[in-house]
Amino acid sequence: MPRKMLVTSALPYANGPIHIGHLVEYLQTDIWVRFQKAMGNDCRYFCADDTHGTPIMIRAKSEGITPEELIGRMQEEHTRDFAGFGIEFDNFYTTHSDENRQFSEMIYSRAKEKGSIVKKQIQQSYDEQEKMWLPDRYIKGTCPRCKSPDQYGDSCDSCGAHYQTTELIDPVSTVSGNPPVLRESTHHFFRLSDYEDALKELFSQGYVQDSVQNKLDEWFDAGLKDWDISRDGPYFGFKIPGEEDKYFYVWVDAPIGYMASIKNYCDKHGLDFDQVWNGGEYEIYHFIGKDIMYFHALFWPALLFSANLRTPDKLFVHGFLTVNGQKMSKTKGTFIMASTYLKHLDPQCLRYYYASKLNADVGDIDLSFEDFVNRVNSDLVGKLANLASRSGPMLTKKLDGMLGTLDAEGKALLDELTGAKQEIIEGYESLNYAAAIRRIAALADVCNKYVENHQPWTTIKTDAEGTRTTLTAILNAVKVLTIYLKPVLPEFAAKIEQFLSINPLTFADVQSTLENHKINDFVRLIERIEKEKVEAMVEESKEQTLSQQTEEAEMQPKLAEPLEPECTFEDFMKADLRIARVAAASAVEGADKLLQLELDLGGITKNVFAGIAKAYKPEDLVGRLVMCVANLKPRKMRFGISEGMVCAAGPGGEEIFLLSPDSGAQPGQRVH
Ligand code: MSP
Ligand code: ZN
Repeated sequence: MPRKMLVTSALPYANGPIHIGHLVEYLQTDIWVRFQKAMGNDCRYFCADDTHGTPIMIRAKSEGITPEELIGRMQEEHTRDFAGFGIEFDNFYTTHSDENRQFSEMIYSRAKEKGSIVKKQIQQSYDEQEKMWLPDRYIKGTCPRCKSPDQYGDSCDSCGAHYQTTELIDPVSTVSGNPPVLRESTHHFFRLSDYEDALKELFSQGYVQDSVQNKLDEWFDAGLKDWDISRDGPYFGFKIPGEEDKYFYVWVDAPIGYMASIKNYCDKHGLDFDQVWNGGEYEIYHFIGKDIMYFHALFWPALLFSANLRTPDKLFVHGFLTVNGQKMSKTKGTFIMASTYLKHLDPQCLRYYYASKLNADVGDIDLSFEDFVNRVNSDLVGKLANLASRSGPMLTKKLDGMLGTLDAEGKALLDELTGAKQEIIEGYESLNYAAAIRRIAALADVCNKYVENHQPWTTIKTDAEGTRTTLTAILNAVKVLTIYLKPVLPEFAAKIEQFLSINPLTFADVQSTLENHKINDFVRLIERIEKEKVEAMVEESKEQTLSQQTEEAEMQPKLAEPLEPECTFEDFMKADLRIARVAAASAVEGADKLLQLELDLGGITKNVFAGIAKAYKPEDLVGRLVMCVANLKPRKMRFGISEGMVCAAGPGGEEIFLLSPDSGAQPGQRVH
């Protein structure tokens, strides 16, 4: 009986492109799914873009488009990149869908009925100018421990300290550049501890690999804490039913997106989702990276328990990609986008290389460029592709493309190859692709030795029929090796199938032989990697990063501001813009961006704190005419009260340009 299985990869965030780190996971999964299909199993592969949350909302705003437009564009890019690498989903959906909204609401309401949702008052950072709540990563400031400036809200890159956002010195919102304030709000929490026993039971059934079991024990020992599942608006996500301006935290609806993608597929293919998910016929597997284990090992099954839904059979957790032994780096050019790779190199090479490195551990996977070039050139091109390219053209050019029959020696060679079938199957099944690839490469060595021994390029001159027998053995060997490689190299396999003039190969075809069979002209399978191409790819990744950094910088609302909503003439006239003379200016102790200005508005004096210290020296400003908002509601700042605002253009920092009137204007005159 074929097995029935539903397989997922983690849902990539819609706020960025696919890179070669992601591809570890999507290729690992794709290979497994293709393997299962080649075994004749009913295996289907699901994914979706993960579209909700603050980063997407902010990015869309800074690009002046709606989040829906942004996620639509990203979905196209992601789909194109995945296809470029031969990653074949049965359905690639989006978390921003009706199916997902309905499932999220259903699971939430069932959890609530069970009493697993509690409300608590919490204090959170808020950006008063942008009118939004700030996740930790949108707050920066000076590290309370080592005093390094420009550190994130939760931890310091410089000394590694972890702290509360409230401990940061001079914290600012990275969205507006203003200091955040603390505000109270009611949040919904999911009581994870209600499901401790159920989770332990699940783990005892082998929900995770042995190698990550320890991590779970640590988490249990630390105690299961309530999980904050709500966010206040503005937020791009699903509204919590029965609440005014509260949304599900993106990590609630993200894994539910697995179900939504499957539901969407079922509806399109006339399948009953409830039966498929809950009926018990299908095995369910999630492939994920080690960074998102907590969500998938604890929160996700607990949510499913709370809603009386079935939990998946197993998580397959993999490690992270390093390049040349180090973290992917934008400055080194090793942070390589999938699309950049495809401009320079053949996707089959990366598929082969990752497969040759992957096993069931959670250790990191290293892509060493030198090893990559060597291994692909010597094994994939030199041993595997070469076997076909040495024998195929000879048969078609000199022997009418007609295979003969196998002699005893040919049969012995094939027996050796077919004898490895079970071992290779086990390699794939247990995610130990590296072992499968090693075995396949060793078999290719045996075949190449056979070729050397028989010297068909010599015998063809004197013994045509003997040579046909030799080539028949070799091409049958190519067929078997191709079946073994097919999950990793679908394109390679398709070319061999075309050349051998046979139907798509599956593992069931390992034992059958091709005799007295006409084949087609040979097509080139794969090219050697030239070192220069790798270098060019790295170079371009560096360039791309520079322009990307500017792009990222431009995305900050401070820099490329979308137009504000319309305001009426009356609204505009409420702002009392005046010409003022800077009467005095001084630096502000403890705030290196601010200057304190005394503005003379023709008799009235106003005290103003302006964020222009990086661009102007106080002494250069005194006496100068500027434009200011004179009736701005006074605002209490840490250093005193600011009673107005000077008008300036530019993104900020050193690039800020004060507006001044032409000569003739007088302090106190209204701007209109
Ligand atoms: N959106 C979440 C997943 C939600 S699943 C319900 C997310 N997205 S991600 O785009 O950051 O990552 C997607 C997957 O790629 C994750 O499993 C992650 O571990 C994996 N990888 C991202 N970068 C990686 C490397 N550098 N190396 C290996 N895998 C990596 O997390
Ligand atoms: Zn520090």
